[in-house]
Amino acid sequence: MKYQHWLILTCCLIKYTVAKYKQPNPEKYFMALHVAMLEQNLIEYQDENLTIIDDWYPKGSNHYIVISKRYIRGIRHVNRSHIPLLEQMEEKGLWVARSFRSRRSYLVGYHAEPFFDRLHLHIVSEDLRGRGLKNKEHYNSFTTPFFMPSKDVLHSLRVNGSLHFPSHEQCRLWLKRPLHCAQCNYQPKSIQDYKDKHVAYHNFDTWSPPANVSQVPTGFWIAKMWTFFEEWGNITATPE
Ligand SMILES: *[C@@H]1O[C@H](CO)[C@@H](O)[C@H](O)[C@H]1NC(C)=O
Ligand SMILES: *[C@@H]1O[C@H](CO)[C@@H](O)[C@H](O)[C@H]1NC(C)=O
Ligand SMILES: *[C@@H]1O[C@H](CO)[C@@H](O)[C@H](O)[C@H]1NC(C)=O
Ligand SMILES: *[C@@H]1O[C@H](CO)[C@@H](O)[C@H](O)[C@H]1NC(C)=O
Ligand SMILES: *[C@@H]1O[C@H](CO)[C@@H](O)[C@H](O)[C@H]1NC(C)=O
Repeated sequence: MKYQHWLILTCCLIKYTVAKYKQPNPEKYFMALHVAMLEQNLIEYQDENLTIIDDWYPKGSNHYIVISKRYIRGIRHVNRSHIPLLEQMEEKGLWVARSFRSRRSYLVGYHAEPFFDRLHLHIVSEDLRGRGLKNKEHYNSFTTPFFMPSKDVLHSLRVNGSLHFPSHEQCRLWLKRPLHCAQCNYQPKSIQDYKDKHVAYHNFDTWSPPANVSQVPTGFWIAKMWTFFEEWGNITATPE
């Protein structure tokens, strides 16, 4: 081998070792939502009670975050008095998400151990193939009970007035478990295997243009046009 090859090999090894052992620094991003909700170019909607932003690292093709304007630390700090706010967050969030992509189905809920300070609701398209989805923890955080659906949260609050949270150990087990496709029995070997190959087997978004446009059948554009008109009424409708 030439010395250039050794050099490249050494660099790869260093890069791999650093990536493997580098600890993420949660402190750095903990306050990110406070900043994001002031970023005009991220904001999709806001009113007196909440701000809806585009996640800057989307975990699905579409990923919105609904943030409470009144400061509440997180989902662990809500009680019965917050039911109207949580209802609004779900309703307005889904309205915004569907205004842009009404065909997609969304996962709507809270993380049992939120990463960011400040109460926020995730609205993420079910495909989970966004550019921000980079490891199995990201995937598992939406496909295991670590993800608490908004419907269940509201139901518990109405019935019990409080929420039950899993232990930290349990949360870790869920996040660290091997990948398991939420739509079928397949166990992807890695997140790349899931995103690059497996996700294509599921018909998540019928009308997203295929990669090779020259192969699109004519019927595709007619169907797309049709859905556009079908959805137009819903896009222009206001919530309520
Ligand atoms: C904000 O929340 C209050 C209290 O729940 C409600 O009365 C009001 O209508 C909400 N505002 C909007 C714009 O939804
Ligand atoms: C709910 O939480 C708020 C603070 O977020 C607190 O002021 C209020 O007393 C709590 N209500 C109940 C019934 O615990
Ligand atoms: C209400 O609390 C009880 C006891 O903690 C629990 O068994 C039950 O599942 C809860 N119900 C809901 C809807 O969360
Ligand atoms: C797209 O499909 C055409 C026809 O099958 C093929 O000739 C072309 O190489 C493809 N382009 C890409 C980028 O795959
Ligand atoms: C439009 O909204 C109605 C009622 O909210 C719903 O039943 C229908 O499925 C929506 N249409 C589309 C194309 O999303």
